[in-house]
Amino acid sequence: MSVAARSATIGSFSPVGSQKGSPRPKMAVRSRISTSLSVGRILTNLENSCATPLPVLRHVADAMAEDMRAGLAVDGGSYLKMILSFVNTLPTGNEEGLFYALDLGGTNFRVLRVQLGGKDKRVIDTEFEQVSIPQELMFRTSEELFDFIASGLARFVQKESGKFSPARGRKREIGFTFSFPVKQTSIDSGILIKWTKGFAVSGAAGRDVVACLNEAMERQGLDMRVSALVNDTVGTLAGARYWDDDVMVAVILGTGTNACYVERTDAIPKLNGHASSSGMTIINTEWGAFSNGLPLTEFDKEMDVASINPGEQIFEKTISGMYLGEIVRRVLLKMAEAGSLFGDPVPEKLFTPFSLRTPDLCAMQKDSSGNLEAVGSILNNTVGVRSSLTARRVVLEVCDTIVKRGGRLAGAGIVGILQKMDNDSRGLVFGKRTVVAMDGGLYEHYPQYRRYIQDAVNELLGDEVSSNVIIEHSKDGSGIGAALLAAANSKYA
Ligand code: BGC
Repeated sequence: MSVAARSATIGSFSPVGSQKGSPRPKMAVRSRISTSLSVGRILTNLENSCATPLPVLRHVADAMAEDMRAGLAVDGGSYLKMILSFVNTLPTGNEEGLFYALDLGGTNFRVLRVQLGGKDKRVIDTEFEQVSIPQELMFRTSEELFDFIASGLARFVQKESGKFSPARGRKREIGFTFSFPVKQTSIDSGILIKWTKGFAVSGAAGRDVVACLNEAMERQGLDMRVSALVNDTVGTLAGARYWDDDVMVAVILGTGTNACYVERTDAIPKLNGHASSSGMTIINTEWGAFSNGLPLTEFDKEMDVASINPGEQIFEKTISGMYLGEIVRRVLLKMAEAGSLFGDPVPEKLFTPFSLRTPDLCAMQKDSSGNLEAVGSILNNTVGVRSSLTARRVVLEVCDTIVKRGGRLAGAGIVGILQKMDNDSRGLVFGKRTVVAMDGGLYEHYPQYRRYIQDAVNELLGDEVSSNVIIEHSKDGSGIGAALLAAANSKYA
């Protein structure tokens, strides 16, 4: 079959903004690559191996639900750790006082203070600061990383103004959002299992991260107290639930990815009957480690092998912001080497891992100009290539293929969680309004990705059920959520 003939059956190119400007021919990409059969073939193979038709989505949703059950049965029972958060009550709105939150989870860390005013006044005032984490600290020692964080916190606390009222005779309390897999040992302690998202800090895995922070605060002469240690998903759920009682699930889609949800304690065999008084708790699934039945390509496998955690976090490596750009770069490199997509020789920068980032894909997919000028200049600035219009179109198809797979798989994961909850609660999830609180840069800034999530949810659940499932952006909810959980677990309560 000729490349042109094959292209007529495969075409999923639908960038945002394509309604505006000159219409872009949808199916013409492969037929125009007269110079190279192999570029067309690589593209077709890529689309085939990344395809997520309904049966694939269904398999992923079912497997997610099944792995959740196995992880709830016994520790180590599944790739999904299903971590107990020790958050057994959610914010009520009655929380009062000044609380701090510290959020470490990706390329930035954030500090926040909030004055809570109880049922009537709710959030009286907040202030926050964000500091980007120097790249080298991701590879140094735990002391260096925690000293950096504690000194940022100390500077922020010094700037506390009169509009915030610390309670007399009490230490300031912190909700510490630490967004890596942690085996919680109580609401205010937990052992780091491993780093993810490219962090390789020595001396922290196997240690209580609250103790690491306390030691660093002591070195800074900062006398504060961590009252709650939470994952960012848990903070997001708590923050969103403060405003909306129907929030049952929270998902982060940013540099990394994860989800948590409200579970009944009698559905958690590994608790061995230790039910909480509320009868519920939040489970941090750590779904980034899921891998069952994912449609993976040679590019994913090569990226995984080259990563600092090979064989781990496969779902995260397929759907999260840290990796989408890198997968696309690897595809383009192959197209350049095997099919001279950007002419000869292959530009040096295209060989550099992570030189193409997910925000670059998003910016390229926004280009609605006839000659794809923005695509051309982004390719030039990031990976140093000069591109023909045909090559730019191919690049956009590759981006769309990888982003579509990511978004649709994320949607299937969400349905898997809802399905598990609904099965165990006899229709109490799908039968009523249920909110999934979403946060993370990938979700916030990538409209196509968001749309693909929603498509998958609609396809899997059908119109009637999916109209009850509200996927809602909860911007920066995790900071306030962590502060609320510090308030709910205050040592002075
Ligand atoms: C971590 C999770 C975190 C997620 C989102 C993952 O890499 O393992 O704990 O919630 O990223 O930040």
